[in-house]
Amino acid sequence: MKLAILPGDGIGPEIVAQAVKVLKALNLNMTMTEAPIGGAGYEASGDPLPDATLQLALDSDAVLLGAVGDWKYDKLERHLRPERGLLRIRKALNLFANLRPALLYPELAGASTLKPEVVSGLDIMIVRELTGDIYFGQPRGISTLSNGEREGINTMRYCESEIRRIGRVAFDIAMKRRQSGQKAKVCSVDKANVLETTELWRQVMIELSAEYPEVELSHMYVDNAAMQLIRAPKQFDVMVTGNIFGDILSDEASMLTGSIGMLPSASLDENNKGMYEPSHGSAPDIAGKNIANPLATILSAAMMLRYTFNDESNAFRIENAVKKALAQGYRTADIATDGCKQVGCSEMGDAVVAAL
Ligand code: IPM
Ligand code: MG
Repeated sequence: MKLAILPGDGIGPEIVAQAVKVLKALNLNMTMTEAPIGGAGYEASGDPLPDATLQLALDSDAVLLGAVGDWKYDKLERHLRPERGLLRIRKALNLFANLRPALLYPELAGASTLKPEVVSGLDIMIVRELTGDIYFGQPRGISTLSNGEREGINTMRYCESEIRRIGRVAFDIAMKRRQSGQKAKVCSVDKANVLETTELWRQVMIELSAEYPEVELSHMYVDNAAMQLIRAPKQFDVMVTGNIFGDILSDEASMLTGSIGMLPSASLDENNKGMYEPSHGSAPDIAGKNIANPLATILSAAMMLRYTFNDESNAFRIENAVKKALAQGYRTADIATDGCKQVGCSEMGDAVVAAL
């Protein structure tokens, strides 16, 4: 098993170090090679996705990534900014399927800003399309009109095949997640009342659903979905949506679980090769202070074992160790409550290793 480790910027290096610690404690037959991406890539070789980093990722079975971005790079030309490195590696590896599970650990029910009864037992899987939509659509750019005024353009576009392949991922996951006696459910989120791109999205999802008679497909406009996620989040099982809506809704869903510091993610290609990263950003304001929550990254490593390496038992072991560390009262600052054992990033990593 060949693993590329891309710590990135901000809190990236500290949280990735904890996930590496956990993986090493499992004594798997895995080689890990580190390379810079984002601002770190720019510092190392003037490119947020250095050639050597991309090559390493292409040659590896999976990629574990921390986070990219820092305000100090906001003034750089757009193609040199850290985020471009992330978007380019997603596209280059064809990682079109982004899985973002929002799962509430019972121990953290009090950490959510919502009432415990609204979020207890919450278990949603957001399936976000990751290589299309307004993120990549052409034309794009900022230009100056003939009257001297500047205009910004981005283009929302999806072709049928892109919609169908992400739809399949969502339907397949819904079937796997189905609890006995319950129906598998997929809610497709769009803005079909206004945007043609997503009118097509809805049509393709309906066509595809004919192949999945066991799955109950519903549709929701994205504005309503944003509201329903806060009002009654437990109505959802699998949500499938495009790149930009998924970006926004997954941040929202993460807060249902108490902290965005808890939300892992997997980005997969058609052969389950994947890149694994926490759903949160690089948080430069708390970088280097050993206070970041490493659990989303540790849980991303568990997803990696499950989805790319088919190693359900070790994935489960990591997830159980996280549960145990939480049950033992260990909390980083973002999820701290009265009477807990508040610890730093590396101590939380140690607590998970001890609980393995
Ligand atoms: C995410 C992030 C990225 C995105 C940024 C950093 C480019 O917000 O992974 O959700 O918008 O996809
Ligand atoms: Mg985001």
